[in-house]
Amino acid sequence: MKTYIDFLRRELEVRLDEATLFDVDCPLRLGAAIRYSLLGSGKRLRPLFVIFATEMCGGNRDSAMPAACAVEMIHAYSLIHDDLPAMDNDDLRRGRPTCHKQFDEATAILAGDALIPFAFEMLSKLSPDVVGRCSLELARAAGASALVGGQMDDIEKEKDIDTKQQEPAIKLLERIHQRKTGALIRVSLRLGGIIAGASDEWIAGLDNFGQKFGLAFQITDDLLDVLGNEETVGKRLRKDAAMDKWTYPALLGIEESKSEALRNINEAIAELSIFDNSIAKEILTNLTRNLIGREK
Ligand code: IPE
Ligand code: IPE
Ligand code: MG
Ligand code: MG
Ligand code: MG
Repeated sequence: MKTYIDFLRRELEVRLDEATLFDVDCPLRLGAAIRYSLLGSGKRLRPLFVIFATEMCGGNRDSAMPAACAVEMIHAYSLIHDDLPAMDNDDLRRGRPTCHKQFDEATAILAGDALIPFAFEMLSKLSPDVVGRCSLELARAAGASALVGGQMDDIEKEKDIDTKQQEPAIKLLERIHQRKTGALIRVSLRLGGIIAGASDEWIAGLDNFGQKFGLAFQITDDLLDVLGNEETVGKRLRKDAAMDKWTYPALLGIEESKSEALRNINEAIAELSIFDNSIAKEILTNLTRNLIGREK
């Protein structure tokens, strides 16, 4: 199982590497910054989800590769911009200097910008019968009412903690996490289903799984910021509290955050019961179960 994930990670690396051999019109510094942030380490969770969802729905891995690369490109851009001084102001990502530290802010902004259309260029390589729907779904998941909107509210919360109390804080935080992190995870699974020609019922099952997993994933990310080891995680930690971020541990405390993560993990796994047994389903189940003890 581990070897299959390793194999897929290598395969993805090759595809991403080949895709970013830019022509002469791409300035060397820009190309280098894009490759710096896209290639190398990273758990590759979202592209793995595209592939596993495709396989669970009876589709073939190769047909999913363009979408797998596309979601990783959106993810990489979101991390580059998330780390900028205007946002989380971080200097360490995946155990290395963040893009704007390694290069400079303008280059990091532009590298992030370039990755967005690049993701859609990758998607255009999908089979013509699914390309329209996949593009629309990815555009929405990355957009103002999803990833970017979640990031906006995340930043606002940091500055403006008490002024928008129309809903209970924990509900608002859940919606922030669902948008800034959940939406891209969710769409990764949906794209896999769409590519495999899955039924609406299966796509809904993948979507529900993605929602629960996405929330649990960001809760465990919040927990890692408090409890993790900087060297293992590869990011600067203890920053969320220092920046007054709304996180699960900040609002609920450590123990209740862990049980909330666990509840979502169990519910996510239960969503997979509608799928026939397969290696992909087994890997997805194990990955989900292991979320609670993750160290990076
Ligand atoms: C980090 O995502 C950002 C969050 C949404 C919490 P990952 O933890 O998947 O980052 P990489 O790709 O493995 O570095
Ligand atoms: C990041 O959330 C979400 C996105 C990048 C969209 P965080 O700000 O908690 O992610 P890390 O901890 O920097 O990876
Ligand atoms: Mg952030
Ligand atoms: Mg951050
Ligand atoms: Mg975090």
